[in-house]
Amino acid sequence: MRQPFVAGNWKMNGSLDSVNTLLDGIKAGIGEVKEAEVAVCAPFVFIPKAQQKLNGSPVAWGGQDLSVHDAGAYTGETAGSMLKDFGCRYVIIGHSERRTYHHESDDLVAAKFQAALKAGLIPIFCIGETLEQREGGITEEVVGRQLDAVLNLDDGATLGRGVIAYEPVWAIGTGKTASPEQAQDVHAFIRNRVAGKNGAVAEKIRILYGGSMKPGNAAELMAKPDIDGGLIGGAALQAEDFLGICTAAN
Ligand code: 13P
Repeated sequence: MRQPFVAGNWKMNGSLDSVNTLLDGIKAGIGEVKEAEVAVCAPFVFIPKAQQKLNGSPVAWGGQDLSVHDAGAYTGETAGSMLKDFGCRYVIIGHSERRTYHHESDDLVAAKFQAALKAGLIPIFCIGETLEQREGGITEEVVGRQLDAVLNLDDGATLGRGVIAYEPVWAIGTGKTASPEQAQDVHAFIRNRVAGKNGAVAEKIRILYGGSMKPGNAAELMAKPDIDGGLIGGAALQAEDFLGICTAAN
């Protein structure tokens, strides 16, 4: 059995005030979450606050990106070792917003995946197709290519040290969730592709769904056999909504 996992991706949202309130709210309600492992991925500057508030709680914290480099003259970047220094357990890699706005290639994403592991972080590896690609009938081609960038680094063992998040770009922040069947189809495709390389990794790797997941649709999505949790954007910004999704895994 794979333990469900719900991770919040706050993206570039929040103030010190709102983050305090959000973290207090999550801490106050986390006792109701029986099954899911829970994490929040905060903007870099809020990570020390997350550490201070969540230390000793069952909620883990992480970053939303990291540099492919260990250290040096890379203005504006943050190394995995720095995230590790502040107690991060996770880091999101290859989010569609990074791929789109920062032109991150599959190769760079694969290198960041390895940089995360090297720093002792667990990568949350995002893949997903755009609306145009879905309508063009190339969802599996696109998702397969993105997945292979990490899957083909070796026999699948490297991929197996991370978590996969399937995030159809057309469902992110649009209120247009993939139906449980649409999501399950792609999740099954992903798991089968991993199985083609490494059965043990396919069996144990968690594949999260992300894209307009809310308390009202989370249980239905997570009931699908290959959907092991969620990566939550908008609904992770209010403790009640986020906890509602986390308890949907109960
Ligand atoms: P929304 O939940 O706001 O659609 O965002 C999903 C996402 O991109 C999480 O990484």
